Formats: sequence, C-alpha cells, structure tokens
Amino acid sequence: MSRRKIIIDTDPGQDDAVAILLALASPEELEVLGITCVAGNVPLPLTTRNARIICELAGQPETRVFAGCDAPLQRKLVTAEHVHGKTGLDGPVLPEPTMPLQPEHAVDFIIQTLRTAPAGSVTLCPLGPLTNIATAFQRAPDIAARVGEIVLMGGAYFEVGNITPAAEFNIYVDPEAADIVFKSGAPITVMPLDVTHKALVTQERNDAFRALGTPVGIATAEMTEFFERYDREKYGSPGAPLHDPCVTAYLLQPALFKGRHINVEIETASALTLGMTVADWWRVTDRAPNATFMGEIDANGFFTLLTERLARL
Ligand code: RIB
Ligand code: CA
Repeated sequence: MSRRKIIIDTDPGQDDAVAILLALASPEELEVLGITCVAGNVPLPLTTRNARIICELAGQPETRVFAGCDAPLQRKLVTAEHVHGKTGLDGPVLPEPTMPLQPEHAVDFIIQTLRTAPAGSVTLCPLGPLTNIATAFQRAPDIAARVGEIVLMGGAYFEVGNITPAAEFNIYVDPEAADIVFKSGAPITVMPLDVTHKALVTQERNDAFRALGTPVGIATAEMTEFFERYDREKYGSPGAPLHDPCVTAYLLQPALFKGRHINVEIETASALTLGMTVADWWRVTDRAPNATFMGEIDANGFFTLLTERLARL
C-alpha cells in the first residue's frame, strides 16, 4: 500500500504532540513531508520549540519543521496557556530541542510542496488555527485544487464551543482563515469537538501509556495528566479529550469514525457567535455539502491503536 504524504500544521499543545507522535510512529502508512507550525495554543516561538521537542522525543530529529504565521489573518492572537500551560507543553520535563528549524517559511513550504507533488497526492493535517493554510491558498490560489484532502481538528456542532459558548478554539482564533479553507473547494474531513470529546484519556488509558515504560509512553501520560485538569474542572469529564490525535487516527483507520457529508460555514461577522462552525447536520438548507463532519468515534479502538503505535517509538 502506498504511503500517504502528509503535512502536519500544528500549534503544540499536548494533544498536537500526541498526534505528531502517532504519525511519526506510523511510517508504513504515513510519510510526514514536514511539520508546519502556527501560533495558536501558545505563540509561534513556542509552537516551533515544542514541535521540535516532540520530533526529538520520537527519535526523529531529521523531521523537517517550519515556522509559519505568528498571528491570525486579521485579528489579534488569542492563546490557551490556561489549558496547555505557559510553555504549551507543560507536564513532562523534556530537553530543549537541538534540531534546527528549516529556513523556508511554512507557507512557502506548503505552496512549493503542493505545486511539485503530483496533484491529489498530499494530505494537509491542520491541528491548530488555519492561518498557514489560508495564507497559502491566498498567495497561490492554484494549489487548492491540488490538495488530496484536508483532515483537520476544529469546530463543533452538538458539542457547541469550548472557547466561547459558540466556537471551538482553532476556528475561533482565525475565523477568516477557516472561512477561506472551508470555501476552497478542497475535500475536507472535520474532527470536531463532537468527536474529540468522546476520546477521553481515562485513568485506565493513561495508565496504559505509562505502562509502556518508555520515554514516549511516560511523557504522553504526563502530558495528558497536565492537560486533563482543565477539562475535568470545566466538564467534569473523566480525562483529557485527545482532540488532535483523532486526525492522525483517521488517516490510519478511518473506520474508527462516522460522520456526514454536509455543508459547514464559518461565522465571521457576529461578535456573539464568531468562529462558530454552522454545520447543516440535518440538511435544512440547500447549501452545497463541502465537508465530511465526524460525529462518532470508536474510542476503545482509537486508544488501542494509539497505545500500540506509541509503543513502537
Ligand atoms: O479546541 C481544541 C483545539 O485547540 C486542539 O487542536 C488544541 O490543541 C487547541 O489547538
Ligand atoms: Ca492543536
């Protein structure tokens, strides 16, 4: 089976970190062409630091990591240190990275890669605000048609918002960027909070990470232990929702997820509902479907896959 070429666009973030580890642990199925960093959970200098820390933790310092946009297209950056800690990767104590950042800007790398790879052969995997992806589409309108698939973590419908009553964080930080991406015509698969809030790291699942006894297993246990306190307090949930690893798991075992191909549009005007993903789940409008919006996950299957793959690193 040919390997799927992917670009991971990310704002690590403990859950981004686990998504990256899962991808790097799956070289038979996934070829990580590069990791492009964006400002989101924490500012860009920290997301580029954290991405490299994770690549080195995975024992893959040759992975190409790029710095991207340090602010949303039009708005002031909103970050989430209250969830992820001041470094964005609080929890484990990991060494500062020694691997280099690539010299090219992440947006140039995305454009260049999509223009040179065979059309339809590259999957974009955004795990944070969509600023890098939207900037690439604005600068090079020709590339949207060359994207194989966009599989992103973002949005919410039945689960409603996590940063405001209406909006999920990744979309809320840069709603104009999300609007550009959802209107780009590229095939989009969405992992919203509706799914990721069902992928909870219970104590038993966290124990399974720790029981791997490896630096990766222990660090994953420590990252999710740190990250879960916010959701426990807010939702009373029995563990951290592993948002971003749902994207990687979909690439590896799509049958773990169920959803609908529907119309999804982004609120960019109303202050009250800014960043809301208006998902026409019940198809009550004649707006054309533009995204596969996931609603269900086989959570046990997800954690079995994740734990087995992390054991390989
Ligand atoms: O709302 C959850 C999303 O926001 C995740 O991608 C998390 O890492 C943060 O970026
Ligand atoms: Ca993220």
